[in-house]
Amino acid sequence: MSCGHGDNREAGTGADCGGLTRRDFFKYLAGSALTLAALDNATAAVYQSITSLNQKYIGDDSPDGLYWDGIRRHFLFEDGLVMMNNGTVGPMPKPVFNTLMRYFKIQATNPYDVYNFLPTFREETRTKLAAFVHASPEEIVLTHNTTEGINFVTAGLDMKEGDEVVVSNMEHPGAIHPWRLKEKRHGIVIKEVPLGLPTRSVDEVVGSVAAAITPRTKILSLGHTVFITGLISPLKELSRMAHEKGVLVLGDSAHGLGMLDMNMKEMGIDFFASSPYKWMGAPTGIGLLFIRKEAQDKIWPTIVTGGWDVYKDARKFECHGQDADALIFALGEALDFQNAIGRRRIERRIKTLAAYLKKGLREVPGVKIHTPEDPYLSGGLTAFSVEGVDPARIVDYVREKYNLVVRTIGNRDAGTYGVRVSTHYYITTKDIDHLLEGVRTLAAHRT
Ligand SMILES: Cc1ncc(COP(=O)(O)O)c(C=O)c1O
Repeated sequence: MSCGHGDNREAGTGADCGGLTRRDFFKYLAGSALTLAALDNATAAVYQSITSLNQKYIGDDSPDGLYWDGIRRHFLFEDGLVMMNNGTVGPMPKPVFNTLMRYFKIQATNPYDVYNFLPTFREETRTKLAAFVHASPEEIVLTHNTTEGINFVTAGLDMKEGDEVVVSNMEHPGAIHPWRLKEKRHGIVIKEVPLGLPTRSVDEVVGSVAAAITPRTKILSLGHTVFITGLISPLKELSRMAHEKGVLVLGDSAHGLGMLDMNMKEMGIDFFASSPYKWMGAPTGIGLLFIRKEAQDKIWPTIVTGGWDVYKDARKFECHGQDADALIFALGEALDFQNAIGRRRIERRIKTLAAYLKKGLREVPGVKIHTPEDPYLSGGLTAFSVEGVDPARIVDYVREKYNLVVRTIGNRDAGTYGVRVSTHYYITTKDIDHLLEGVRTLAAHRT
């Protein structure tokens, strides 16, 4: 069943396409005027190429050469664009774009199939996504983005006046404003914990968060991938500590999917929101909210139509009316693309590039790195500032000189203002050398 639409089938009947199996459905499509063979062939060629690259380059033995060059060719970048700001929006690999086009074309040419067949396949994406983050499909909510996932938790959790939430001083607006709304509306108390610049250790974070917990604390709501500094918060250790005190944990991991090889079971977190259009290669408009089985009765659904009171699992949070099914298929394709390369390999590559960048930055006079050195506490986001150089000058200079996209981040008054760089797997050390050359040039002429 799907939510709403006056549909009176039972919950959880799965992918039953009115008598057609998925295979039949695609055979039927292929036989219709709607042959999308060109898109399919292009996608198949990409996977064939990745398989052959995987066979040729078994380890990460091609640090800056053929393997990752080959992968980069499967993106659609404008000539010469070097996208080093996945932290805001990332690119889609070709197969994801093809899938998006394929299913929007169905909507354009045969809307009947949109409401009859496509929604039933969403369970496939849910299952793939669950496997990708080591959760069960019953714990996966397909949202539209991180902000929505966070609002589902903040709005859905019963809290009385005086009840407390612990946050950090570096939460994204999409993670702090939902709590500010609750503060205004219900009189809850937001307790803010300062994070280091950079954070030095797991104990530093866990210790300061633990110190802020009181008997009134109901939940910790913390950035996992901290957008200002690139810190990867130790959610596993934080969850363990919080659960010992009977406190729930919400992680804002807008950047996590596609950057890190994550395991929800190991993390032991209650709620975890992510936006796969940043590092995962999915389109905008589709997101993940993980809700641990044990936490599902602790929050109410926020947006509902028929079905919310029938489902007994995370799908009760997904009864929100008509969806863009093309986005769900495209997310499934993005998962396939990353799986073809390998999650561990991707995380290793991203962290290797980040380490290369940090090493280069450390050698530039006047540079302060805001991101932890420790690869356990950092990932693909690196933030830094250069004494006497406006971060905006660096951003403009490297765009103009090398067609390289990075961004400013943080706040001058808080001392966090700087440049933020995303080192996704398709970036080369040569791209990083260009960035470093730009930083060195401007640092040499600082005021
Ligand atoms: C850490 C963090 N949280 C939340 C968000 C909001 O993400 P979205 O706009 O996809 O909901 C962002 C966006 O950049 C972010 O960096």
